[in-house]
Amino acid sequence: MATARPYRIAPSILSADFARLGDELRDVIAAGADWIHFDVMDNHYVPNLSFGPMVCEALRKHAVRADGTPVPIDVHLMVQPVDALAQAFARAGADRISFHPEASAHVDRTIQLIRAAGCSAGVVFNPAAPLDVLEWTIDQLDLILVMSVNPGFGGQSFIPGALKKIERIRRLIDAHRHETGRDIRLEVDGGIKTDNIRQAADAGADTFVAGSAIFGQPSYKVVIDAMRARLAA
Ligand code: DX5
Ligand code: ZN
Repeated sequence: MATARPYRIAPSILSADFARLGDELRDVIAAGADWIHFDVMDNHYVPNLSFGPMVCEALRKHAVRADGTPVPIDVHLMVQPVDALAQAFARAGADRISFHPEASAHVDRTIQLIRAAGCSAGVVFNPAAPLDVLEWTIDQLDLILVMSVNPGFGGQSFIPGALKKIERIRRLIDAHRHETGRDIRLEVDGGIKTDNIRQAADAGADTFVAGSAIFGQPSYKVVIDAMRARLAA
């Protein structure tokens, strides 16, 4: 069961108002965001184009709480190739960088260079992607991200098959922690709303990306509080 896990909510600014991104960041942090999820799309790996490292760098100074503590920037790279952009995002102030293994020619090298740049490293699994790559990478990962939509767009519906994948990865993470004492975050991304966040948590997720569910509502705090209430129930 997932009851004792410290949950994190990571609003995706893909659904924020791009004309006022700095203010949006401050507002969603004041509303209780734990991390800021930053979706990078290149119109090659996915059929959409979002923002690059310069936008991340400009936003870094806005990713702080009222008391001055920084809020982690969780970069989700939907790009191919991966390595040069991963390094550019590390220089631009990213804290965590995740990538899709099939988009990298050398997955181990990509993980190593993300960590060498001082960031936490994650891999991302699309709805139809196999998990084999975990066998030889789990030792070096800080984060595993399960896509519960096909990547490329905000506002899509949650794919229920993702729950089974979350359960399976949760077992691997728990076995790894048992063996090594090291924990790995399990993040779910796509179609997360107040009414399904609990299901994802029960399957084993501890970190929840939500874009349209939060930025589509007038009060970000009302949504984030409602999500936390479901997680605590
Ligand atoms: C999809 C992105 C997601 C997405 C989440 O490619 O990785 O982070 O923006 O948006 P919602 O919560 O609206 O599904
Ligand atoms: Zn994402």
